[in-house]
Amino acid sequence: MTITHTWFGHATQMLDVNGTKLLIDPFFSGNPAATTTADKVQADYILVSHGHGDHVGDAVAIAKRTGATVIANFEIINWFEGKGVAKAHAQHIGGGYHHPFGYLKLTQAMHGSALPDGSYGGNPAGFLLTADGKKIYLACDTGLFGDMRLIGEEGLDLAVLPIGDNYTMGPDDALRAVKLLQPKHVIPVHYDTWGLIAQDVQAWAKRVSAETSAQVHVSKPGQSFTL
Ligand code: NI
Ligand code: MN
Repeated sequence: MTITHTWFGHATQMLDVNGTKLLIDPFFSGNPAATTTADKVQADYILVSHGHGDHVGDAVAIAKRTGATVIANFEIINWFEGKGVAKAHAQHIGGGYHHPFGYLKLTQAMHGSALPDGSYGGNPAGFLLTADGKKIYLACDTGLFGDMRLIGEEGLDLAVLPIGDNYTMGPDDALRAVKLLQPKHVIPVHYDTWGLIAQDVQAWAKRVSAETSAQVHVSKPGQSFTL
């Protein structure tokens, strides 16, 4: 029984929960950091945190090809159903559901959520997954918010945080987020995709190691970390 996290560059991630593949914010086409392509990746579920193009990405095509169930907020799910995606599960912020792979709750995120065609995408979300006795928090695109402390009270094994700045938390606020969340392990994402969000990830990792008890795992796109 294992949970493996794979980062595909930007915010595109896979959580393999005992063989069930949860693909998160699948942005492959046009993502200069991607190490695989939308026509090759496998998925049983596709989690979409918010409506922006670098997160919805290839989700419609992958859902249609794989038959994966899309999980997102109600407004984004309406949009996917309008695009002919057959299997979808709408939730909303604060709400959790016992899926076959585990209990998944949508959490608040401080960001936008307009869909690529301008459709209303509701409010952006993060994800809190309880599976196999482990708790994993994907902050997704967000600024720092004080209620990360409440999420930390859950007792996190892993937190995945954006550090790229400009569109999301930068390194300073992501370090403060680690202090609020107090995860055992932390993985940085949403940086170095483009020059605008280039960061010195090793410098950030050193600061996290010096100032918190979290273990930082800096992956190269395509690399995995097993909890
Ligand atoms: Ni975004
Ligand atoms: Mn983004």
